[in-house]
Amino acid sequence: MSTITQLIHSIPVDEQTGAIAVPIYQTSTFVQEAPGVNKGYDYARTNNPTREILEKIVAQLEEGATGIAFSSGLAAIDAVLKLLKSGDEIVAVDDIYGGAFRLFTKVYEKFGIKVTYVDTSDIQAVFNAITPATRLIWLETPTNPTLKISDIAAIARIAKASKCLFCVDNTFASPVLQQPLELGADIVVHSATKYLGGHSDLIAGVVVTKTAELGAEIRFYQNACGAILSPFDSFLLIRGIETLHLRVRQHCANAQQIAEYLENHPLVDKVYYPGLSSHPNHLLAKQQAKGFGGIVSFTLKEDTEEAAKAFVTNTRYFKLAESLGGIKSLLCHPASMTHKSIPDEKRRAAGVADSLIRLSVGLEEPADLLEDLQQTFNKIDQLQPAVSGL
Ligand SMILES: Cc1ncc(COP(=O)(O)O)c(C=O)c1O
Repeated sequence: MSTITQLIHSIPVDEQTGAIAVPIYQTSTFVQEAPGVNKGYDYARTNNPTREILEKIVAQLEEGATGIAFSSGLAAIDAVLKLLKSGDEIVAVDDIYGGAFRLFTKVYEKFGIKVTYVDTSDIQAVFNAITPATRLIWLETPTNPTLKISDIAAIARIAKASKCLFCVDNTFASPVLQQPLELGADIVVHSATKYLGGHSDLIAGVVVTKTAELGAEIRFYQNACGAILSPFDSFLLIRGIETLHLRVRQHCANAQQIAEYLENHPLVDKVYYPGLSSHPNHLLAKQQAKGFGGIVSFTLKEDTEEAAKAFVTNTRYFKLAESLGGIKSLLCHPASMTHKSIPDEKRRAAGVADSLIRLSVGLEEPADLLEDLQQTFNKIDQLQPAVSGL
């Protein structure tokens, strides 16, 4: 049976009623026959049948032992960090999602956890950053917004040899394209807000663990700290996952066309997309993933914030918004939006140029998206003297 058929049929038919869609168990508690004698559920923070079905589906998608669902991607990341204790160290990807950076530095460093940031696409740099206190390696691949690719299997070997945990934030790739647990990671996290949900209509996070033991630890923190996913959002997420394979396939196809178009455009300087043979890690991306994803970043020849802002405010179908992974195309200007809190020099050094624009390529007809980009380039080309102050 193919994984797609398996996924669709792993979403159970309700035994009691025959309902083909997963029922939303909108309840806080469950009636017990006698103290401690119940039907497997006692209180809905601890367990809820709708959330439980979702958790089984995501565990299966990532080929892990246990799935655990949270009220946001950051809550999922937070639960993983709770495996650590004061004095432990993390080696993390330097191009990390800003919210994770804020959580690591502003919350966990306060509790005595040290984080070292390295370019994880350089395996030697990862190896050199490990100390006897390193307990966790934290990876995103591809990264945001410059889409750097790191070698998951090689980093897994370093983690194993150093006896530390290895967690991959698989938000950008989704399990359809990349399965880090199969490549040796111990834990996968997702901002399920993005591709898993897929419709820009919920905030959610999931953790999937390779082993049941690690899953039990995370589940303990899910219940003890309480950032659970609601039954309705669990339902929405299941509904999103039902079409994940189909959506991701089309996101990739549309993004590839757009990246190739941008690469040949005279107003574009650099294009960042792992599916282009010009991408420095194209071969690695091809080897460890089944596709290159729906995110494309590019810089303009006119490398100014003004030029980028003129671009992002003149598109028709690409809507200006943070977030990604939904059916509607979005675009953002990281220097003034997602990466605004990073000092300019540090941001530029990380490759996030003043004019860098990130596209989350949606599921519209690709010809319409290309036409939208073309009309935007035409407009900014006309505006160019005003934009550059000439
Ligand atoms: C790679 C990545 N990880 C985690 C998160 C955090 O997820 P959420 O916004 O669902 O809390 C995001 C959000 O943008 C993200 O892009």
